[in-house]
Amino acid sequence: MKVLIVGSGGREHAIAASVAKSGRVDHIYCAPGNAGIAQIAECVPIGAMEFDRITAFAKEAGVDLVIVGMDDPLVGGLVDALEAAGIRAFGPRKNAAVLEGSKVFSKNLMKKYHIPTAAYEVFSQADEALEYLHSGVKFPVVLKADGLALGKGVLICNTLEEAEEGVCTIMTERKFGSAGNQMVIEEFMTGREVSVLSFVDGKTIRIMSSAQDHKRAQDGDKGLNTGGMGTFSPSPFYTKEVDEYCRKYIYQATVDAMAAEGRPFKGVIFFGLMLTPEGPRVLEYNARFGDPEAQVVLPRMKNDIVDVCEACIDGTLDALDLQFEDNAAVCVVLASEGYPLKYEKGLPITGLERFAGKEDYYCFHAGTKAAADGTIVTNGGRVLGITAKGETLQEARKKAYGAAEWVSFANKYMRHDIGKAIDEA
Ligand code: AMP
Ligand code: GLY
Repeated sequence: MKVLIVGSGGREHAIAASVAKSGRVDHIYCAPGNAGIAQIAECVPIGAMEFDRITAFAKEAGVDLVIVGMDDPLVGGLVDALEAAGIRAFGPRKNAAVLEGSKVFSKNLMKKYHIPTAAYEVFSQADEALEYLHSGVKFPVVLKADGLALGKGVLICNTLEEAEEGVCTIMTERKFGSAGNQMVIEEFMTGREVSVLSFVDGKTIRIMSSAQDHKRAQDGDKGLNTGGMGTFSPSPFYTKEVDEYCRKYIYQATVDAMAAEGRPFKGVIFFGLMLTPEGPRVLEYNARFGDPEAQVVLPRMKNDIVDVCEACIDGTLDALDLQFEDNAAVCVVLASEGYPLKYEKGLPITGLERFAGKEDYYCFHAGTKAAADGTIVTNGGRVLGITAKGETLQEARKKAYGAAEWVSFANKYMRHDIGKAIDEA
């Protein structure tokens, strides 16, 4: 088979590494990819939003399966475009990717189908949102721009003043563009966060091993929100009781709700959960693998990823037994100092060769590229994701931090407390 992966981050490198293990695949393409993906796939210089070019390329190259890693092309309808051209594609169609693409849609869906989530109100006018904030709501409140905003469209506001400012940022200044045409104001919840990824074929859902992300830039969950500074899997806080509750009230209920709405979901549903004192609640849905959750979950998956993707497309997931290794993985993101704001790019990276042939270690590239002379240089805020597997989370963490020292670049920055919560479990 020939497989094309769409995207260019650490998640897509992890997907490519999984596809490379499949005995059924003899050629992998990635559009546009990065310097690490280029070591196992043929990268083609086509952007993830260039639907016509992706479709034309897939047809011309005789691609048998396209795996779309990123949210933007999914929400924009890349899977629909590929299907219309007769190309098999893994990921939700546009009418189902709205589960991630619109917070208003997902909140209304959860309300209609009684899926546990924070109480909320929807607004399409700034003055109405402000009026609501003055009506005696409890602080903190959480403001969410409706659409995709690179993970930045969520504001936690501790006071009325902060919330007023937030409404202005989202709806008046339109800092997140059209994502702020509508907004959600919701109740603030407390608890531990867990990411649960799943494969879905429209009817059946298979849950992957749990994970936890670290979104803030600095140790101790301080600093700005980022795309994710590190992950571990499984989460020791995702207990059997939590799993049972989510299976009963959240997972299948979401899949059934989407089908009932005439939007059958095929692909990956990422459940962002908060384990509140009242039980698990859905914080958000994503319509794709998490980044950097994929970098700890996929290396532990025993199944051939191509089999699983095909089962989702064909609606035969009920016949598939999804299995994970009985171990743990930790991913430490090596970022550029200054991320997520301002940082330097183009700095040479050394030590990458130390990962060659090392079992249980992975160096997933995120923001890298090959310079004209072939040197691999930094090319983004998140540069690499260093993953290690171990028998326990503690062992995996020790190995991942050890391997994080194998690699050097001038403005290398990482958090030193990825997986620290494990010790409290
Ligand atoms: P989201 O993109 O909706 O997952 O929001 C990003 C982050 O904001 C989440 O990972 C949480 O840390 C936080 N968050 C979102 N909604 C709430 C809420 N209702 N209560 C507390 N924190 C929240
Ligand atoms: N790691 C969170 C996300 O992929 O959205």
